Amino acid sequence: MSSIKPIKGNFIDKSIISLDQFDNESLGTLFRAVRKIKDTCEVNGYLGLMRGNLAALLFYEPSSRTFSSFASAVKKLGGQTIEYQNPAQTSSAVKGETIEDTVQVFANYAEVIIIRHPVAGTLKLAAQASPVPVINAGDGIGEHPTQGLMDMYTILERCGSLNGLTGLIVGDLLNGRTVHSLMKGLSLYKNNTLYLLSPDNLKISRDLFDKLSAQLQIIEITSDKDIPKNCDFWYWTRVQKERFANQADYERLKHAYVLTPQLVKRKAGKDTVFMHPLPRVGEIEIQVDADPRALYMTTQMKNGLYVRMALLSLVLGKIK
Ligand code: NCD
Repeated sequence: MSSIKPIKGNFIDKSIISLDQFDNESLGTLFRAVRKIKDTCEVNGYLGLMRGNLAALLFYEPSSRTFSSFASAVKKLGGQTIEYQNPAQTSSAVKGETIEDTVQVFANYAEVIIIRHPVAGTLKLAAQASPVPVINAGDGIGEHPTQGLMDMYTILERCGSLNGLTGLIVGDLLNGRTVHSLMKGLSLYKNNTLYLLSPDNLKISRDLFDKLSAQLQIIEITSDKDIPKNCDFWYWTRVQKERFANQADYERLKHAYVLTPQLVKRKAGKDTVFMHPLPRVGEIEIQVDADPRALYMTTQMKNGLYVRMALLSLVLGKIK
């Protein structure tokens, strides 16, 4: 029975649900594997590590990038996919089947199950019930570990280290699951300072703040005037419309902080990189896209593919 075990340098047969499972050694193993896969893929475009294997993709929430990049990762590794977008309408979930039963069913057909679900905590239940590894592709306002890992890899590639960084994270930090995984990941390294820019009611939960403050220096700000000029990275996020009970609140807050060419001029350093998990809905002006420091449409996304290829290969025991 696969469950949510710490990785401790060995990924084989483990579900990937949270950055809480990781330590530095395991991240080092993953990032070395990503580097190798990226180098090989950029030359050959293909690796046969998953030949004969199947991955089931069950996405109970909308997705473009995560769904497609997982499907692409499996296929570029020579594997095949069973793909359900919207299983709540198209699978036995319609009839009331539980997630625990669903994963047991799909474990008969696939060697790994990749799930996105609107309710935080569901992925843990799925992993506990599943005989094959389960990968969290985003669970409600909980975590999005593979996004956090690709973001960390991108920062590592650009900044040369994951220690001693100064970063800015902006937007809906309460509901944005990608920032939860990213912050947990960065907290495993030394001397990192994070400036968190968000409206008062979209700050990270006090629980997470307390937990992370033990390892990270966290400075919460509410005005872009307080952004320091020496950031290694800016990580922008959208305000998560679907998590708001009151749409008027969403409308009021959705463009509280916008990344504009003017802000870049005022506050960005010459090597500050600009990242965003996407989709963006107006919080980065398109004029910023052409800036060589903007990685969100290119490097960051491409790294998502390689991180997912590496993770699948490690979990299935195809590489060390
Ligand atoms: C993110 C998500 O789904 O959490 N998207 C993604 O997977 N890259 C971010 C978001 O939806 O805002």
